[in-house]
Amino acid sequence: MKEQLESLRKRAEEELKGTMDRQGLEGLRIKYLGKRGELTAILKQMRSLSEQERPVVGQFANELRALLERELADRAAELHEAETALRLKREEIDVTMPGKRHALGHRHPLSLELNEIKEIFVGMGFDIVSGPEVEYDYYNFEALNIPKDHPARDTQDTFYITDKILLRTQTSPVQVRTMEKQKPPIRMISPGRVYRSDAVDATHSPLFHQIEGLVVDRGITFANLKGTLETLIRHMYGEDSVVRFRPHHFPFTEPSAEVDVQCFSCHGEGCRLCKGEGWIEILGCGMVHPKVLSNCGIDPEEYSGFAFGMGLERLVMRKYSIDDLRLFYENDVRFLNQF
Ligand code: DAH
Repeated sequence: MKEQLESLRKRAEEELKGTMDRQGLEGLRIKYLGKRGELTAILKQMRSLSEQERPVVGQFANELRALLERELADRAAELHEAETALRLKREEIDVTMPGKRHALGHRHPLSLELNEIKEIFVGMGFDIVSGPEVEYDYYNFEALNIPKDHPARDTQDTFYITDKILLRTQTSPVQVRTMEKQKPPIRMISPGRVYRSDAVDATHSPLFHQIEGLVVDRGITFANLKGTLETLIRHMYGEDSVVRFRPHHFPFTEPSAEVDVQCFSCHGEGCRLCKGEGWIEILGCGMVHPKVLSNCGIDPEEYSGFAFGMGLERLVMRKYSIDDLRLFYENDVRFLNQF
């Protein structure tokens, strides 16, 4: 019987070595140590042994069971380790491999410029407000001192929705809405989309962007207007930029002016950028017309104010010598990536 057990041990150990996975190990355990396993079967024959043999063989058999159990466990641990090593090898990352580049988008040049302008005004204590793009004729024209037959209406080819409702042609109606809602002091800018029924070409688009500005308080003068706009322009075009106020006419401001900066490309000599003029016009402005103040319920005897309006596309075109407005809306990455 001892020999039987000895040969069982040899076979079991051999098979154990040849087993490469956990399922195989479990199979072996059942085959030798299970209820109907070979070792169990041999032990069942113990009854036929003599009194003296039984304890000796019994001890031997128990030792063999313990040995096989240990060997099964050791082999299981070995297999587990090998599996882990293999998995780690498969998951190994080569940190010296070149990375995959992701194409990153970035801000549109109009947004970049607008953000810069907003920051300058927020620094001067201005609020940023917005108004509707579908607007009443009243706010877009009437309240701004542009009555029905006024020639200024002809220069702003308007998309009418009904006789009273239109797509705003300028951001100036936000001045009126702000003054109706808010008592002075008022300090705000209002950027946004405006619409004019123009055919598309290099300098015209039915949709473009303006930035409106409005300050109303007691004792506001043209000097405040100049100081504010000069601050803006120095931030935008550099400390040494030269500014010029040129008399002009707008129905909603009196007096009114257009503001030019000396061409930052030729410094006034005249070049392609400024079309030989030496100066570049960048915005319209003026002191808020007393009629506009009283239209909004603000007493022009007590308060005064200034306003200004500028076209965002034009500012950016001038800054970067862009000669075609359509580039802003085509979203060609070869153009956009340059900013
Ligand atoms: N709204 C004018 C336009 O679209 C621009 C403008 C000029 C706005 C003078 C103003 C201003 O507030 O004071 O042409």
